Amino acid sequence: MSGWEPGDRRPDRASMLRVNQAGEYGATRIYAGQLAVLARGSAASHQIARMAAQEERHLARFNKLMAERRVRPTALQPLWSVAGFALGAATALIGEKAAMACTDAVETEIDRHYTEQLAELGEDDPELAADIAEFQAEELEHREIAREHGAQEAIGYPILSAAIRAGCRVAIELSKRI
Ligand SMILES: [Fe+2]
Ligand SMILES: [Fe+2]
Repeated sequence: MSGWEPGDRRPDRASMLRVNQAGEYGATRIYAGQLAVLARGSAASHQIARMAAQEERHLARFNKLMAERRVRPTALQPLWSVAGFALGAATALIGEKAAMACTDAVETEIDRHYTEQLAELGEDDPELAADIAEFQAEELEHREIAREHGAQEAIGYPILSAAIRAGCRVAIELSKRI
């Protein structure tokens, strides 16, 4: 892992773990922001709490792998803490459907990201690949739940979704590198 140089064909698994841990951490912060705003006991908050528990599990797993493999977290963690929470709170303030549209958008980008990683990993790291594949399936379930709860009926869905997806892509690229 430490022997990796730009231009090396082998996947940079330290960078992969770093960006995945950052993403799962960001997801927990988004849901924390949403749960801080949404009324307890609403159908949306119940679903979000369930998804948040799964994100905590994904995060714990990547934390463990990072510790075992001595990979440092992204230096941008404090930024993702604030930005994630703010995104969650802001979308929940717009309404429950906007909160769901946020999950829809984020999971679309995470799904794309995990698909790319699995292709890049190939047979190189079955342990990491198995986790990614398992979490990816759960992220797609989250997107289904969000759509069942009206994500695509949110006011301004196309713009909201495009903006959040663009933000996710930037966050992913930064967290791979910094
Ligand atoms: Fe996750
Ligand atoms: Fe998720």
